[in-house]
Amino acid sequence: MKPELKPIGLIHSPHREAEGTPIQPRWAAGVEGRVEVLPEFAPGLRDLAGFERIWLLFWCDRAGEARLEVVPYRDTQSHGVFATRAPSRPNPIGLSCVRLLAVEGALLRVADLDVLDGTPLLDIKPNVPDLDAFAAERVGWYAHARGSRIADDRFTKVAESKST
Ligand SMILES: C[S@@+](CC[C@H](N)C(=O)[O-])C[C@H]1O[C@@H](n2cnc3c(N)ncnc32)[C@H](O)[C@@H]1O
Repeated sequence: MKPELKPIGLIHSPHREAEGTPIQPRWAAGVEGRVEVLPEFAPGLRDLAGFERIWLLFWCDRAGEARLEVVPYRDTQSHGVFATRAPSRPNPIGLSCVRLLAVEGALLRVADLDVLDGTPLLDIKPNVPDLDAFAAERVGWYAHARGSRIADDRFTKVAESKST
């Protein structure tokens, strides 16, 4: 099957631009927003309300040009993009594990958002610690990560970040 992606909804958050936003849900505690799922996909939300956290997969539509080597947030050294969570990648897909506050029809109320307002939603999956939580002794360069937990504009389009 040929890879083909079409958004299933939109993510709404208080974050209007990358600069100043938390770089992961872990550091976005309490940042609330909503996920608007297109009506034709609403039946797929059945039973989601039983989960405390969900994974959002989304298209980083304001990411700058794809790069294969980046200086990620929290570090000052360059790394291969696939060893980072940088949004400027060949397929700018982001994934965030957010808190599910409520399911109201095709609308999800969520918290702990590190996602920009208006981001296209690609998929939703339940977070199941039994499946998703792996303790790991090796975390590569991240073991020495010391930088800010707040984003700047290094991975967003110049036009987007400078025009408003
Ligand atoms: C380091 S990325 C990590 C995103 C996701 N949690 C992940 O691990 O794939 C987090 C940053 O992505 C940026 N971002 C969020 N939504 C975006 C979008 N639609 N386009 C471009 N950048 C976005 C924000 O600046 C946020 O601070």
